[in-house]
Order: sequence, then C-alpha cells, then structure tokens
Amino acid sequence: AIDIAKLRDQSGYVTLDSGFKNTGATKSAITFLDGEKGILKYRGYSIEELAEKSTFLEVAYLLIYGSLPNQAQIDNFQHQISRHTLVHEDMKKFFDGFPSKSHPMGQLASLVCSLSAFYPESLDPHATAEEMDLTMIKLLGKMTTIVSWIYKKSLGHPVIYPQNKLDYVTNFLHMTFGQRTEDVEIDDVVVNAMNKLLILHADHEQNCSTSTVRIVGSSDCNLYASISAGISALWGPLHGGANQAVIEMLEKIKNDGGDVDKWVNKAKDKNDPFRLMGFGHRVYKNFDPRAKIIKKACDEILAKLGISDPVLDIAKKLEEVALNDPYFVDRKLYPNVDFYSGIIYRALGFPTEMFTVLFALGRLPGWIAQWKEMRENNDPIGRPRQIYIGENDRSYVEMSKR
Ligand code: ACO
Repeated sequence: AIDIAKLRDQSGYVTLDSGFKNTGATKSAITFLDGEKGILKYRGYSIEELAEKSTFLEVAYLLIYGSLPNQAQIDNFQHQISRHTLVHEDMKKFFDGFPSKSHPMGQLASLVCSLSAFYPESLDPHATAEEMDLTMIKLLGKMTTIVSWIYKKSLGHPVIYPQNKLDYVTNFLHMTFGQRTEDVEIDDVVVNAMNKLLILHADHEQNCSTSTVRIVGSSDCNLYASISAGISALWGPLHGGANQAVIEMLEKIKNDGGDVDKWVNKAKDKNDPFRLMGFGHRVYKNFDPRAKIIKKACDEILAKLGISDPVLDIAKKLEEVALNDPYFVDRKLYPNVDFYSGIIYRALGFPTEMFTVLFALGRLPGWIAQWKEMRENNDPIGRPRQIYIGENDRSYVEMSKR
C-alpha cells in the first residue's frame, strides 16, 4: 500500500495523473474537441465543413493566424511560402548520407532539426513577430520539399525541385510523383484527396506530439528543434505511427486468410499484447469525426481512381465486428483517424513507411500554431512534478565491496 504521509513528506502536495488523462496543461483558442459527442472544430469551424470546402493552405492560415484568409491574404501566404521551398544544397549532402532504407520519420526529424543550423536567426527567443513569422514560413515551405525528397530517396530516384507557380499541395505532389521538374501532371482527384487528408490531420489540441512541441518550445527552444521533437513523438505506433501499423495489420489479416473474428478475439485477450491498431482514442469516446469523413472519402477516392483494395473490405468487416462486440462497446473503442487513412495514401501511390510522414506534413500548421500561441501567451516552462518512490539514505559502497 502507498504510504501517503511518507510521500507527502518527500514530495509536498503533488497531483499524480500518469499519462495526463485529466490534466489541462494550457489554455488554447485553436482547436475544440468534445470526445463524448465526437465534435472537432478548428478556430470555431467544424472539421466537416473545412474538409468539404477548404484547401489545406487556407486551414494552415486559419490555425496559425486565427481567421480564414481573404483572397489577398491567401495569395500572399502562398507567395511567401513558395519563395522558401528550396532546401539549402549543403543540407542535401547529409541527406544523401542516410541509408536509403532508413525510416522516413527518422530522416524527417533529423532534417527538420537541422534547419536550425542553416537558419541560426531562428535561435533568438526574442525575435520580432515578423522574424518569427519568417521562420514559420520557411518551415512550411521546406517541409514539402524535404518530405518529397525522402520519398524519392527511398526509390533511388533523383529529386525534383519545387515549382513556385504551383499551389502548396500540387507542388508537393509534383515533387513526389513527378518524373521531371518541368512536367506537371497531377490528377485533381489526387490533389483534392490530399488536401482533405492534410486538413483532417492539421491539429488536434494537446495530443502527445503537440504537447511535446509545446513543452520543448517552453524552454525557449527554437521552432525547428521543437517541431523535430514533435515529429519524434508522432512516430510511435500508439500515436501517428498507427497509420502504418494499421495497414501492416490489415495485410497480416488478409494473408492469414481474412478471419476477422480471430483477430478481434486476439485484441480482446489480455495475455496477448496485440491491439486493434486504428481503434481507440484517449479523448474520443464516440466516433472520431475524422474517421467518419475519411471512411466516406476512401470509398469515393478509390472509385474515382478505379482501384479496388481487398484490405478495405477487411477494414470494414473488422469495424463491423468490433463495433458489435461488448469488449469494444463497453470501452467505447471506435475507429480513429488512422484506421482508413492508410488505404487512401496507398491508393494515391505512397508506400507504407511514408504514411506517418504525411501525418506530420498535415500536422505541421497545428504544431506551428500551438508553438506560436504558447510564445504569445508567455506560457511558463513546462516542468511536471513526480512522486518519488525510490530508495532513501543509502551509504556509498566501494566498488570492491559490491
Ligand atoms: N485494441 C484492444 N483493446 C484496446 C485498444 C485497442 N486498440 N485500445 C484500448 N484498448 C483497451 C485497453 O486494453 C484498456 O482495456 P482495460 O480497461 O480492460 O485495461 C481500455 O481499452 C482502455 O485503454 P487505454 O490503453 O487505457 O486507453 P488510452 O487512452 O491510454 O490509450 C490509445 C489510447 C493509445 C489510442 C489506445 O486506444 C491504443 O493503443 N490504440 C491503438 C493504437 C492507435 O490506433 N493509436 C492511434 C491513436 S489516434 C492518434 O494518435 C492519431
């Protein structure tokens, strides 16, 4: 039993909330989330409406600056970003040094952090608002180039340079799927699908990676290093890495004969570490509204592209079985954003290992907005407490006597 009096003597009064299940770390005006009702809004606009009507760049502007841009504002935003899509040629040298099979998330975290070496003005915590703005714009611009180069490297193909006349998402797709810098042939279906997916991933209040960005940034650490830390946090399969894990799981089920009940039972078995990837969420105790939109988009996009993917049928069967099983019903475990997103990424032509990188590309404006809000609010340095449960008052033992 825990001796409360002893703990109090050692630690003072401390609220213990492992995993921060019910601890608010900040006030924020960016994203609203009601997990019981399954509601998600960015700056007061419903995710359903934004995913239907907006572009990713408009949503990025909305998250970072607080309101939807008018035509002049979005044109200027696009123009500023386009001017900063090129990556320093010296950076390419150490990019070339990564083993071609190294995981794209490891490359992404390293490359984003290294931007702080190329743009040392970002290190100044007292930079003016305009200077900070430029640091953010550079990151938004260079991220698309870095992500597409990581993809090209995985194929052993030459990189494609950005084309400033293209909009943000089309330019990214061009650098990723284009064969030559001058040729641009990107299907509108693909552009629209990519916009939708990126919008759905753009922010999600104080999740693991966003809290990481804020806590790293709270020490006055620069934007690039803070976001690199967020990318690392996103990598794990319990967070953004779940989108890769879902497809790997669905493939495994398919190759195992497609017996969905067997895998649902495995997920329920407490002696088996297997979990249904893409199911459950810390905050949503109802349908993840993003999963609803993605599921519908998945059917539409695959039909438009004329693709039939057998893992989509397995995913739907899995969802149906799980949602009618008391284990999942009692624990309020529903499909989350990662459950269907990978099937779309795959239909668009992305390899599985790139999925979490695409999540990071989508989440970037949210991380930037949260970092900026934290700075503007002068939030204090993040420093959780602990309850010490280790040994006390031990005498040092010489090496020869241990
Ligand atoms: N499959 C089977 N059982 C599950 C699952 C799952 N996917 N998720 C939760 N459970 C069970 C737990 O075993 C636990 O059962 P118990 O009460 O009998 O012990 C109960 O449901 C509650 O789960 P916790 O792990 O306590 O919930 P927590 O909020 O800590 O975890 C998480 C949330 C990490 C998302 C979890 O549901 C999970 O591991 N899901 C699979 C991974 C995944 O899809 N991650 C992506 C999340 S969305 C995102 O980050 C973008």
